[in-house]
Amino acid sequence: MTTLDTRPRSAAGTSPGADPLSVWPASTTERPHGGLLVGGVPLTEIAESHGTPVYVLDENEVRARCRAYRGAFPDAEIHYAAKAFLCRALARWVEEEGLGLDVCSAGELELAVSTGFPADRILLHGNAKSPQDLGTALRLGVGRIVIDTPAEIARIAAAVGTGGHQKVMVRVTPGISAGGHRKIRTGSDDQKFGLPLRDGHAQHAIARILDQPQLELTGIHCHLGSQITDAKPYLVAVRRLVGLMARVRDTHGVTLPELDLGGGHGIAYRPGEPALDLPALARRVRAELAESCAAAGLPVPRLVIEPGRAVSGPAGVAVYRVLAVKRTPGRTFVAVDGGMSDNPRPALYGVRYAPRLIGRHSPADSESVTVVGRHCEAGDILAEDVPLPADTHPGDLLAVPVAGAYHLSMASSYNLVGRPPVVAVRDGHARLLVRRETMEDLRARDIGM
Ligand SMILES: Cc1ncc(COP(=O)(O)O)c(C=O)c1O
Repeated sequence: MTTLDTRPRSAAGTSPGADPLSVWPASTTERPHGGLLVGGVPLTEIAESHGTPVYVLDENEVRARCRAYRGAFPDAEIHYAAKAFLCRALARWVEEEGLGLDVCSAGELELAVSTGFPADRILLHGNAKSPQDLGTALRLGVGRIVIDTPAEIARIAAAVGTGGHQKVMVRVTPGISAGGHRKIRTGSDDQKFGLPLRDGHAQHAIARILDQPQLELTGIHCHLGSQITDAKPYLVAVRRLVGLMARVRDTHGVTLPELDLGGGHGIAYRPGEPALDLPALARRVRAELAESCAAAGLPVPRLVIEPGRAVSGPAGVAVYRVLAVKRTPGRTFVAVDGGMSDNPRPALYGVRYAPRLIGRHSPADSESVTVVGRHCEAGDILAEDVPLPADTHPGDLLAVPVAGAYHLSMASSYNLVGRPPVVAVRDGHARLLVRRETMEDLRARDIGM
């Protein structure tokens, strides 16, 4: 639970007693006859004005989550992980709330800087940075480049040039397996990110970086994975990385001033699911850091944290219209007008959501249905075992909470459906942030004939 979660939750797993609104933005209110307002705006009104599918982003929820991080980690640098979702307005909100950004491409970087986001508050990541990524980072004066592979050291040093200067960090895999799914665990050794601590690769890379006069190594970075709901893996990471910092001091006489623990803070997608307790994480990480540094005789480094989904995920709601209902002997399928093109997460990681009917009150009993998308894939399933009224029919609206992270940032133009718009809500007002991708947008790229 973060400090933002004011409503009661059960300890683990979806529980029938859990408050159904516990995973919705704090501004969410229910009206009689199925009305649901987010940021003071009825979701049905947004569906009417902007069509469906449509993504709704609660600005105050994003800002409150940024503030919760700053409150929990007052001495740390908090960088929002732009890969979770980025648009120009979101970059501005995050900047106004005093956060930095973590980006992993020239595209994310350019978009952020185009809003006036200070480049020196941006970190560039990437296991395979393209020449364009590095060139853009150096041209715009990015704060730090996080080195992920040994070959990058010479590449970055050469691009910076003799007499130039660039701050860098080094991404280490501390040999910790944590995260909600095999595909989002990045702290263990045998995967594509970072330099393993265990076999000496990280130490070797650090020695080479320290040999480059134009590179200033500010610290060590690790990102253990995503959807981590327990503080313990972070504490183990702190111990191991402080151990590495002590070895760097002993071997090279260099005291590194920064320690970046990445993101990965788990959130609940369905009522009753566990979430990482942010204040407890902050308390325990700070205590562990102080203790480990005291034991190693090191000054406490400045912490850097990179939350993505915990900032934008719970602030987003996806609204779909039902296009078809199909009953088979075993199942009822409710098909909506979006799917894996705007939300590939269920197909990628088996993530489970809790959609609900909005816009009308149904007197019908509830039945357990499978909510599917409109795409030509049998695996285009948005949510399974969803209790919906048995009279759910084409034309109804379904809303899916916790849709603000890794939906639209991973969206595709599969079946040339066009990506949905993003509408911000705040204090009873709605405004379009990103327009719907049109057939004309899609056709304009296709210049072959
Ligand atoms: C380096 C790095 N930092 C931060 C994040 C953000 O993770 P999350 O959105 O789970 O907080 C990611 C996600 O992939 C990442 O790779």
